[in-house]
Amino acid sequence: MATGKEIVVSGIRSTGFLHLGNYFGAIRNYIRMQEDYNCYFFVADWHSLTTHPDPKDLRGNVFRLLAENIASGLDPEKVALYAQSDVPEIAELYLLLNMLAYKGELEKVPTFKDKVRLQPQNVNAGLLTYPVLMSADILVHRAIKVPVGKDQEQHLEMARNFAQRFNTRYGEELFPEPIAFNFGDNLVRIPSLDGTGKMSKSENEMATLYLNDTDELIRKKVMKAKTDSGPAEPGAPMPETISNLFLLMQSVSAPDAVDNFRLAYENQSIRYGDMKKQLAEDMVAFIAPIREKAQALQQDVPYLRRILKDGAEKARASAAQTLQAARALIGINYYQ
Ligand code: TYM
Repeated sequence: MATGKEIVVSGIRSTGFLHLGNYFGAIRNYIRMQEDYNCYFFVADWHSLTTHPDPKDLRGNVFRLLAENIASGLDPEKVALYAQSDVPEIAELYLLLNMLAYKGELEKVPTFKDKVRLQPQNVNAGLLTYPVLMSADILVHRAIKVPVGKDQEQHLEMARNFAQRFNTRYGEELFPEPIAFNFGDNLVRIPSLDGTGKMSKSENEMATLYLNDTDELIRKKVMKAKTDSGPAEPGAPMPETISNLFLLMQSVSAPDAVDNFRLAYENQSIRYGDMKKQLAEDMVAFIAPIREKAQALQQDVPYLRRILKDGAEKARASAAQTLQAARALIGINYYQ
C-alpha cells in the first residue's frame, strides 16, 4: 500500500464484546480516517492471550470483532483489516524491541500495576511486555498516527520511547515517533453509566453499553444510570454522573436535544427521567443497526475469512519491509 498517505495503525483486543467506549474512542476515528490515510487496523488476538481465553472461544471472538468493525462502517477494501497473529513479523519485531525494554520501566506502567492488583495469580511475562508488543504492532508499519481512547496514552508514550531508543542505538531514523490520535480534539474516555470509571469490556456489565445489547437491555441500562436530585441552585457545578450523561447524549443525540436539556439544567427545570428516556431512544437508534448488521455478517464466515486473508497480505507486505531494514541495522544480514 505505497500511497504516500500518512500511515495509521490501531488494534482492538479480542476479549469481550465491543462497547460504546471502543466505538467512540477508536472505531469512529477508524471510519473517518479510512479515506485519507493508509490504514492498518487489526484484531489484537495475541494480546488477548495474557488472560488465557478458552481456545474454543478465540475464533468466534475474532470473527465477531471483525463483523462489528465492518458493521460500524469500516470498509475492508479501503483499509488493511487483519488478525495480529497472521503477521509473524510483529512477533519478530516484538522480540527485537524486548532487548531495548527494561524491566523497571515495564513494571511502572499503570495498566500493568492494575493487572497485578486484579489478577495476582497470573502475572505473566506477556502481561509485563504488553506495551512492547503494542509498540511492535505500531512500529512494524512505521505509523505516525494511532487512533485510540485516552486509556492508551501511556502505551503510546512507550512506543515513542522504543522508537527513539532503536533509532539512537542503530544510528538511523527507521521508526517515526507515533502519536495517539483523535479526530477533532482531546482523546476520548467514555464513562460508565454508574459514575464509576470508564466503560469496559469485562467489568461492570450493567454500566456498559455494548454494540450487541438488545433494545430492551439498552433502555434498561440507561434508565438505571445514576443521577441525583437535580441542581440545588442556578449555576451549580454539574456533578460527574450528570456530565457523563450529557457526554453520552452528545455522542448519539441531535444537538438541539442536548441544548434543550442543558438549558433545563441551567434553569433548574431538568427532569432526569425525561433526559434518560430521550437518551435511551437515541442510543437504541444508534446501536440497533450496528448490532443487526454485525449479527448478519457474523454468519458469513467465508466472507470474513477472505477479509482476514487479504488484510494479512497487505499488512505483511508492509511489515516485511520494516523487518528487513531493522535486521540489517542490527547486523542480522548474513547473506548479503
Ligand atoms: P482495547 O481492546 O482495550 O480497546 C480498544 C480501543 O477502545 C478504546 N477504549 C475506550 N475509549 C474511550 N472510552 C472508553 N471507555 C474506552 N474503552 C476502550 C481504547 O483506548 C482502544 O483504542 N492495547 C489495546 C489494543 C492494542 C492496540 C495496539 C491499540 C494492541 N496493539 C496498537 C493501538 C495500537 C487495547 O487493549 O485496547
